[in-house]
Amino acid sequence: MKICVYYFSGTGNTRFVAEDMQQRFIDSGSQCELIPIESVTKGEVVLNPEEYDLVGIGFPVHAYDAPGIVYEFLELLPAAPIRYFLFKTAGDKLFYGGSTNHLRMLLANKRWKLAYESFFVMPANMASPAKPGKIARLAEAARIHSAETVADILSGTRKLLPDSTSQRISTLFKRLETRGCRKGSRHWRVSSNCDLCGKCVQECPTSNITLVDGKLKFGDKCIFCLRCWWNCPSRAIDHPYAHAVLLKKPYILPT
Ligand SMILES: Cc1cc2nc3c(=O)[nH]c(=O)nc-3n(C[C@H](O)[C@H](O)[C@H](O)COP(=O)(O)O)c2cc1C
Repeated sequence: MKICVYYFSGTGNTRFVAEDMQQRFIDSGSQCELIPIESVTKGEVVLNPEEYDLVGIGFPVHAYDAPGIVYEFLELLPAAPIRYFLFKTAGDKLFYGGSTNHLRMLLANKRWKLAYESFFVMPANMASPAKPGKIARLAEAARIHSAETVADILSGTRKLLPDSTSQRISTLFKRLETRGCRKGSRHWRVSSNCDLCGKCVQECPTSNITLVDGKLKFGDKCIFCLRCWWNCPSRAIDHPYAHAVLLKKPYILPT
């Protein structure tokens, strides 16, 4: 089977799962390619999902839903009867948002056929810091769930996540979050620790960070994926309004 997995990951959890699944598909004799969603939305790779037997789409839960960049990606997908599976990572087993029904509906309108849907509990990348032992346990549980997911998909087993009973609340929460991201976008601050290494500029998935006259400038396209904050080598990035929910420092997932 020829598989392509498109995934978005701000701080590495979803990438961890995507890479684990890729290895398992390959070990089972399939071909599996991983493509970061931002390389599609930035126009860096050719989008050709029709060329695969199966397409995966993975993302982190942001406010019970998918980050905006995932919806931007969905708009670019062709209308064709493509078999696909969805997976998402969330920082809490209760607040993962149930099924991804909005996303499913958009893809159904493009005639895509949903084969499987799963979610992974990973360490939360904001708000509540997990201890190293818990991070290791969650990563191990994700590997086990990835093995089950891949085995089910390859054997043709179809599993979908149950629809959420609080869809309206989730939609409201997502709207508030989208507005918060937009309003908070320009408020990221850079301290004097910054040595202008340019990592954040290169890695920002929405090209929201630019270097202007020797200073970093944040635009209005932030999706709060936290990648810039997470990966800053000098820990120079901060956000005055989001500061209280940012972890003290990023954690490292086991390899
Ligand atoms: C802006 C934002 C909103 C989030 N909202 C939720 C949420 O509603 N429910 C949840 O369980 N986790 C939430 N999380 C935690 C992430 O879903 C979780 O840590 C995820 O695995 C991060 O994946 P990544 O490392 O691939 O970006 C949120 C994280 C961020 C940054």
